[in-house]
Amino acid sequence: MKGKPVIPPLYLTATYQFDKSDDLIDVVQNRSGYIYSRWDNPSVMEVEETLAELEGYDRSLGFGSGMAAITTAIMANIQAGSRIVAMQELYGGTFEFLNDVLPKLDVQTVFINCRHTEEILKEIDKGLSILYLETPTNPLLRVVDVKPLAEAAHRNGAIVLLDSTFASPINQHPVDLGVDLVLHSGTKYLGGHHDVTTGFVCCNHPHFDNIWTYRKILGGVMDPMSAFLTLRGLRTLDLRIQRQNENAMKVAEFLETQDKIKAVHYPGLASHPDHDIARRQMTGFGGMLSFEIDADFNRTKRFMDRLLKIKLATSLGGVTSLANQPITNTHAALSPENRAKAGVSESLVRLSVGIEKTEWLIRDLQQALETV
Ligand SMILES: Cc1ncc(COP(=O)(O)O)c(C=O)c1O
Repeated sequence: MKGKPVIPPLYLTATYQFDKSDDLIDVVQNRSGYIYSRWDNPSVMEVEETLAELEGYDRSLGFGSGMAAITTAIMANIQAGSRIVAMQELYGGTFEFLNDVLPKLDVQTVFINCRHTEEILKEIDKGLSILYLETPTNPLLRVVDVKPLAEAAHRNGAIVLLDSTFASPINQHPVDLGVDLVLHSGTKYLGGHHDVTTGFVCCNHPHFDNIWTYRKILGGVMDPMSAFLTLRGLRTLDLRIQRQNENAMKVAEFLETQDKIKAVHYPGLASHPDHDIARRQMTGFGGMLSFEIDADFNRTKRFMDRLLKIKLATSLGGVTSLANQPITNTHAALSPENRAKAGVSESLVRLSVGIEKTEWLIRDLQQALETV
């Protein structure tokens, strides 16, 4: 038949057949082909290659969620007695893994507020196996100056991991900042349509085999259907991100003019404490922002309930704008003390800006604010 499909086929297969036993043995011994989809699958490899190219690394590995990617990447780089230095302001699931699970394996993590660079450097110089970073942070969008921290970690023989989910490969290039393993929740910007749960680790060759082996053992691999959908998402990533960057900037500027808003946290605003770092380190300020309403918990809840176009939902990064009150969901599990440390007040609202018309979003926020 003449003509080839423009879109690569979806390989919904768990296993692969061989004409000769010697071929099967060769694949098992030399990884020269496909044998079983927990090891490799052509649809998953297609999206892995596309993301690796976008991030500028040799390879990427697909996982069944962001958390599967993060936990596998960490497990592949620790042993009993390892010490991790991490920022305090991590995604909740990552914090729980480091704080609650790893001590059972005799792996301790020191958490430091991302504003205290000198303190992070001091902890790095005490020795470590992993430096774990996340920027921009959730929910206050703090931007961490990655390069000097990565250099210090490397001087101490450590590996540097960075969760770049909030930035996406379009707004930040961790490969230029000295990051060894870039982590993504593909559920967010990469998939981009709120319909897949995936994760990725991007890395260069020295790290690939080790993480691949841990993925095979722990089993958190990406399924082919999710890979197919994520690849479709990646085809429009650049367009979506440009639009989301523009929308978020305009929404942030609008919110700054409102009397009922006490603070707007967006790295694109000159008023943001890390605006200068963001300008230097990022190529776009992103589609995420948060703001504090001049109201108590119940009035903020009423504001959330009045939003019409913007949907009340957790998660982020897709084409549809989503808002949440972090205290009720993403940060509900934190103690009041840890919540205060993370800067999560009862009137804080986090907004993931989508690709809708900017005027719709502003009008929606305006009418909801009128009820406060
Ligand atoms: C920054 C960040 N990293 C990791 C994750 C975990 O990703 P997933 O939900 O795909 O496991 C999330 C989820 O919200 C996140 O926001």
